[in-house]
Amino acid sequence: MQVIIRPNAKAAVELVAQVIAAALRDHPRLVLGLATGATMEAVYARLSALHRKEGLDFSACHTFNLDEYVGLPAEHPNSYRHYMNRHLFSRVNLDLRNTHLPDGTAADLAAECQKYEALIGQAGGIDLQLLGIGRSGHIGFNEPLSAINSRTRVVWLASATLAQNVRHFKNPTQMPRQAITMGVATIMECRRCLLLATGPDKAEVLARAIEGPLAAMVPASALQIHSDCIVVADASAASRLQGKQDYERAFQNDPKWQRFLQPAPAIAADKR
Ligand code: GLP
Repeated sequence: MQVIIRPNAKAAVELVAQVIAAALRDHPRLVLGLATGATMEAVYARLSALHRKEGLDFSACHTFNLDEYVGLPAEHPNSYRHYMNRHLFSRVNLDLRNTHLPDGTAADLAAECQKYEALIGQAGGIDLQLLGIGRSGHIGFNEPLSAINSRTRVVWLASATLAQNVRHFKNPTQMPRQAITMGVATIMECRRCLLLATGPDKAEVLARAIEGPLAAMVPASALQIHSDCIVVADASAASRLQGKQDYERAFQNDPKWQRFLQPAPAIAADKR
C-alpha cells in the first residue's frame, strides 16, 4: 500500500482524477471500477472537465460500480445508477451499454449477484477500482464483519452507514436497509485499487484501516494485503496517521509521481 497525503481535498481529488486519466490514456479499453458517495462527486466533476477540455476519451472504457441499494429503480434519485448518470455518465462519452451496476430491483437478487460477478469476469476483470471509505470502515457496502473472501452479495447496512447516508434521502423512511455490493474478495481481485478519503470525519476510520490490524471489523483494512493499492488522503483525513511523515517522504522522493504534480497545461480560451 502506498499512502499519499495532499494538502487539501482539491489537491487529493486532482491527483486521483489524474491517475484515472493516465490509466485511461494508457489503456483506452480500461475496465474501471467506480464508487459513489459525496467524496467522489468532485472526482467525477474533474473527469468530466478533462473530457470536455482535453478530450479525455471514455468511448472504449467499461465501468463496474461497487454497489447499489436494494429496491431502488434506476430512475430513483437516490439510486446509484441515477447518481452515476448525473455525475459522470451523462457528462462524458461513455457508452451506456458499457456501464454496469448491480440491479437492486432484480426479482432474484442472489442470481443478480452471480450475474454481476460473471460480467466482471467476462470483461477480463477490473483494471483500476476507485474506492471511498465509509465511517463504518466499509468499502463498497462491505460492512463490519464482512469476510475477506466475500463476493458480490446482498448485505444489511450498518447503523453508521444508515446514519451517514440518510441525509441524501428526501424522505428518510425511503432509505433501503439493504444493498448489493461487490465482496471484499471481488475488490481484492481488481488489479489496482485507488482509495480516496477527504475531510476530518474520515480521520479515525482511515487510521484504523491503514495502520490498525487487518480485521473483518474494518473491511477497508483488507487493502493492506492488496499488492497494488494507493490511498490518497487530504491532510485532515490523514491527521490521525502515525506514519504520515514517512509516507510523505516516500511520495515526494518517488519520481513516478512527479508527472502527476506538474501544473495543468494552459487551456486554450475556446476550450474553457
Ligand atoms: C457509500 C458507498 C461507499 C462509499 C461511501 C463514502 O456508502 N457505498 O462505496 O465509500 O458512500 O461516502 P462519502 O463519500 O459520502 O463519505
